[in-house]
Amino acid sequence: MTLWGGRFSTKLNDLAWELNSSLPVDGRMAIQDVDGSLAWADALYKANILSDEEHASIALGLAAVKEEFSSGQFSFVPSDEDIHTAVERRLTELIGPIAGKLHTGRSRNDQVATDFRLWVLEAIPVLNAALKDLQSALVEQAELAGETLMPGYTHLQRAQPILLGHWWLSHYWPLQRDRERLTDLTARVSILPLGSGALSGTPVPVDRAALAESLGFAVASPNSLDAVSDRDFATEFLFCATMTGIHLSKLAEQIVLYTSAEFGFFELSDSFSTGSSLMPQKKNPDVFELTRGKAGTLIGMLTGLLATLKGLPSTYDKDLQEDKAPVFQATDTLLAILPVIAGALRTITAKPERMRSAIDSFMMATDLADYLVSKGIPFRETHAIAGKAVRAAGEKNIGLEELPLEAYQALCPAFEADVYQVFDPLKSVEKRNAIGGTSPQSVKNQITKCRKNI
Ligand code: ARG
Repeated sequence: MTLWGGRFSTKLNDLAWELNSSLPVDGRMAIQDVDGSLAWADALYKANILSDEEHASIALGLAAVKEEFSSGQFSFVPSDEDIHTAVERRLTELIGPIAGKLHTGRSRNDQVATDFRLWVLEAIPVLNAALKDLQSALVEQAELAGETLMPGYTHLQRAQPILLGHWWLSHYWPLQRDRERLTDLTARVSILPLGSGALSGTPVPVDRAALAESLGFAVASPNSLDAVSDRDFATEFLFCATMTGIHLSKLAEQIVLYTSAEFGFFELSDSFSTGSSLMPQKKNPDVFELTRGKAGTLIGMLTGLLATLKGLPSTYDKDLQEDKAPVFQATDTLLAILPVIAGALRTITAKPERMRSAIDSFMMATDLADYLVSKGIPFRETHAIAGKAVRAAGEKNIGLEELPLEAYQALCPAFEADVYQVFDPLKSVEKRNAIGGTSPQSVKNQITKCRKNI
């Protein structure tokens, strides 16, 4: 059975059928399709299109179909072109030709857009929860880190000392914004297309506001042409997913780098690292590399859907059938990555002594300039003086802490014996005490803020 065919003299070519069929993808919206149909049956009943018995029979039949899906008992048949056809075909088998009344005033165009929005609305909190758990893992590590120091980098060159906890939390906040983005998006997904018909609206006098409410949507779409044709909600969802992918990729790249022997800042637990079939000594950060790699695939899904939408004439075009696969795949990708990364981070071991030994006194050159600022000299001048000290120490192949006091005083008479305290990295971080800085107190305050969101 197809949901069309009256005007055709032959059936669709087999290969064209294969191309046209969307069941392998939209089969995932089975529950949403049945729920949408149940709500539509209620709306038809309230609009006096269905009698008491017809409504009861359709509602019972749909409940049975839903139960078949939920219990994994539903069997598809080769003629099921898409999930909408499959549901209606099965309903017909169960309750007979009365099932044919369900599609009154409805089109697969408003139906599919409704199913898809319902699916995305359900995916958002699931993703949110997975993001939240990863945030918890980051906060746990930040707490564990205490006053552990590590080198901070710019341009991947040693820059200034920071607290390890501050670094962990630098990966927390992007995920917080990702969660906020998803939550904001909910309002734009929560717009009901059902009742828009194929494109021009439904002739059935349904109360669309009540219909929206019954399906958990915030509002009914205000324009039928727009409702069946736009997929900005799906694109925006893909952007959110892709942005998360990119945030995870940045974290992953740093873990890959920091677990290398050259850095040695962390060691992965055995349960989250992999070996080599040839080199017995290898311990590889595959899960982080896959995370980095999948961010690229996510970008492809987002740009792919944008390209599909570009230049489509209003309203429904079959190109739109390409919308679901990337959204499903992006969701699956993130739900596969997020718990693994959370697990890997919960079991990673930090190596504070390696981190500490990567902090050299040159990383306190800014503090040296600030020291002279505290003696009343303008920063622009102190920057140059500290730079000269760096050069002098570099030429002698010694650290800034080894440069004799006379050498400092030759550069600037304001230097005194207390200058050497500047080279204590803990003192350096302690000074960064304003909101958002790396001082132990700031990081503690930050952890308190972080805890409120998880
Ligand atoms: N399978 C279609 C999709 O995913 C459903 C809508 C079909 N509408 C139509 N007029 N053929 O977009």
